[in-house]
Amino acid sequence: MSTAITLPNATDRASLFHALLPQVEALVADEQDAIANMANVAAVLHAAFGWHWVGFYRVDGDSLVLGPFQGPVACTRIPFGKGVCGTAWSSGKTIVVPDVDQFPGHIACSALSRSEVVVPIFGEDGKVVAVLDIDSSELDDFAATDAHWLERVCLLLGTKQG
Ligand code: SME
Repeated sequence: MSTAITLPNATDRASLFHALLPQVEALVADEQDAIANMANVAAVLHAAFGWHWVGFYRVDGDSLVLGPFQGPVACTRIPFGKGVCGTAWSSGKTIVVPDVDQFPGHIACSALSRSEVVVPIFGEDGKVVAVLDIDSSELDDFAATDAHWLERVCLLLGTKQG
């Protein structure tokens, strides 16, 4: 198992994602424990992109429960269909929010979060088992291309729900 991550000397996100994806794949390939892999992926994304908050919420009954993350203290539980995370869970779709103040029902864990993206993670039965939540202190920080790259990262975690 490789635990070393090399961050390329690039400033554009596409180049960073392109270089990171195979490294993340190697990082999680031999480990079946979902929480361990989420912890490392949160660390890699936070270090590479410097976002305010990067973390996971896992499905636990009728709510999401806080999982591994990097950043400030966060809300521990989010009900089904509530906030951006709960909506990504209920819809099974990636949600990009350019301005969190314009998202009805947004759950403000940190006053510094201005925009966010939430990507669902699917188990083998096709049901959502977790979401990746990334918050930025910049308005409109996430493009559709970022969402697509993050979906590819989440595919690496999808069948590892140990
Ligand atoms: N922004 C999320 C809540 C989680 S925190 O941002 C970490 C939401 O509205 O779902």
